[in-house]
Amino acid sequence: MPLTLPPLIDALRQRLAEEVSPEAGAARTFFAPGRVNLLGAHQDYVGGFVLPCAIDRGTYVVASAREDARLTLRSLDREPALELDLRSLPGASDARFGWGNYAIGVLRAIREEGIELRGMDLVIGGDLPIGAGLSSSASLSLACALAACGIAEQEMPRRRLAECVRRGENEFVGVRCGILDPYACSLARAGHALFIDCLEGTIEHVPFPTESLSIAVCDTGLRRSLTDGRFNQRVGECSSALERLRQRWPELRALRDVDTRHLELGRDLLDPVLEKRVRHVSEETPRCRRGAAALRSGDLETFGAAIDASHESCRRWYEISCPELDWIADRGRELPFVLGTRLTGAGFGGCTVALLRAGSELEYREAVEAPYAARFQRRATVHFFSAGAGARELDPIAS
Ligand code: GLA
Repeated sequence: MPLTLPPLIDALRQRLAEEVSPEAGAARTFFAPGRVNLLGAHQDYVGGFVLPCAIDRGTYVVASAREDARLTLRSLDREPALELDLRSLPGASDARFGWGNYAIGVLRAIREEGIELRGMDLVIGGDLPIGAGLSSSASLSLACALAACGIAEQEMPRRRLAECVRRGENEFVGVRCGILDPYACSLARAGHALFIDCLEGTIEHVPFPTESLSIAVCDTGLRRSLTDGRFNQRVGECSSALERLRQRWPELRALRDVDTRHLELGRDLLDPVLEKRVRHVSEETPRCRRGAAALRSGDLETFGAAIDASHESCRRWYEISCPELDWIADRGRELPFVLGTRLTGAGFGGCTVALLRAGSELEYREAVEAPYAARFQRRATVHFFSAGAGARELDPIAS
């Protein structure tokens, strides 16, 4: 007897069958996860180190091929639905396309990489909170890219696919994000964190001790969009700091090469805001390396302390935190079973990630949700995730 489809995929197929093609039974299903970033805040676009895990939630795309060159895009929970001609995809993003901008951006990017797109109908849905710092955008783009390659019966290596996701966001959507999210969502391995050197482009799968540690994500309920300008502002500050420091040290390859000596001797080159940003990067770079080494060797106390320190640096130097995120991080420090807590993703709201000793999940939820609601008159939601695998096509029967 075939396994029952999870209700979400069932709903996607039903929508495809009702609105597009009654043969939706033959449709294929693709999945791309979200991610949490354990260490390395805003380090990808400065050539630093990051340490994310993919999570077991993300974006699902049910796709079926068409005979013509048209592309239809529908989302279970977002407007608008779009119908476009693949031979003349829009050349610039448009607010009227809404979430569809991510899909169009990445499809343009994979076509530039030589994938010959085929007409297709896509219905999209997911179980990831949107705009919460869990990489809902990269997850959406990647799931669409994977579906497009699948329908076109063409393979693209995972890293190139990830690069296309980034290009789509950088060049089409207009967010200057780095490789953290696309790499994590594309290259992750279940039960592992992914240590990425964003300057060299190298990756290492570091085993994550799933039996002894739990990943708790607390959603503040505050939403932000990376297109609102604050994210790009940080990227701009970092590139302008690098440009100024290079006047004295032209050998600096990226901001991650800056250390305390440069900061001492280069003060006159930086204004107080840029100095704070550089301080964050110069501390976060060695912290992320030390944290990854601690995870590798099973020194979970040191790993947790690095996560706490990263939050402090985000709050003090990078100024991407807010009272809600700080409250959750501070609460974590009072709880003996929490090894470390920090904001995850871009900040300015969204989620925190906390590492807990396995078995303390309910205690953590109780210690955070109700007191948070009392303090902020707003609901926070705690979720528990395991370190999941990267994007993939789901088995037609088991999906
Ligand atoms: C967002 C961006 C990433 C990264 C993080 C901050 O998620 O998309 O590229 O910069 O913020 O670490």
